[in-house]
Amino acid sequence: MTVLEDSAFVRACRGLPGPHTPVWFMRQAGRSLPEYRKIREGIGMLDSCRRPDLVTEITLQPVRRHDVDAAILYSDIVVPIAAAGIDLDIVPGTGPVVAEPIRAEKDLERLRPLAEGDVDYVAEAVRLLVAELGSTPLIGFAGAPFTLASYLIEGGPSRTYLKTKAMMYGDPALWNALMSRLAEITLAFLRTQIAAGVSAVQLFDSWAGALSEADYREFVMPHSASVLRGLDDAGVPRIHFGVGTAVLLEAMGEAGADVVGVDWRTPLDVATERIGPDRSVQGNLDPAILFAGWDVVEREARRVLAQGRAAPGHVFNLGHGVMPETDPEILTRLTALVHEVSAR
Ligand code: CP3
Repeated sequence: MTVLEDSAFVRACRGLPGPHTPVWFMRQAGRSLPEYRKIREGIGMLDSCRRPDLVTEITLQPVRRHDVDAAILYSDIVVPIAAAGIDLDIVPGTGPVVAEPIRAEKDLERLRPLAEGDVDYVAEAVRLLVAELGSTPLIGFAGAPFTLASYLIEGGPSRTYLKTKAMMYGDPALWNALMSRLAEITLAFLRTQIAAGVSAVQLFDSWAGALSEADYREFVMPHSASVLRGLDDAGVPRIHFGVGTAVLLEAMGEAGADVVGVDWRTPLDVATERIGPDRSVQGNLDPAILFAGWDVVEREARRVLAQGRAAPGHVFNLGHGVMPETDPEILTRLTALVHEVSAR
């Protein structure tokens, strides 16, 4: 175990005081950085995720540039399901596209459990990164069962989740079989990253906000909980994040998170009231604010920091990922501002 317990980031995840409010950005590695666009020229997204040398360099790029308090592994939520036998691609400007969607029980055969060695390249990248990063923690991650299921069932990104919900409501036995299988793969994938040395994990249930609280609790939460609770003995903080989850925050915490990620729609003090006093929060500047000029960025960042003080621990982040068009210099300046304003 190499959890960097003394880092500002891990301390905030655990609700302990630290030198300043830690900050990192979802999608900090990626298209907002010219050095990323350069290194990715002519290399497919999934191919790049399977090359530990590239994963290491791309993960380190934003850490060097912005002085953020944590690195996030460069990979994608569909990497483990591709490794588990699903034929898929990540199409630029679109997202994951699945060649043959999962719609019936016979389709489940194509999604086998992760076998020893299936994601060795991820473990290797984590080991290289932990050695390079020194005292900066590395965050591992995975997609939560619902968000992964939505890509597998729809065949690609969706606005309505029509086919996903049709299976969920119409064939709960098939739904639960698929979700259990995804939970198993996700847990194995996170355990591989933890064994290789990540200091925390984030479970991305990006699209869970499409559900009511009742349906989330009935059809989704048990499976996410089996992933998060499956890590009870792993010793790393667990972050649980989704978009549009105002009514789900309490349940997402209960599922077994140490930190609940909040989008920009819910102020962090309101979120803390819902989540309760024994979990930290992460978030939640609207990524669009980074396009409104520095004075607005500064005012809004100060507001987020003030509202974050209601929680036992606050990890500063955006409410969702960095947009590709973002000026990276704003992110560097924002990181310094958060450090300065929150210094204790
Ligand atoms: O810096 C980081 O945050 C680490 C890397 C990371 C990527 N994907 C790299 C990536 C992480 C954490 C993810 C998670 C991910 N992937 C999520 C959950 C986070 C979220 O945004 O809610 C989801 C839903 C996906 C699926 C996915 N992969 C989408 C929607 C896209 C965008 C498609 C597009 O081109 O706009 C991808 C592709 C992807 N994943 C890119 C990156 C850097 C861009 C593709 C490229 O650079 O060619």
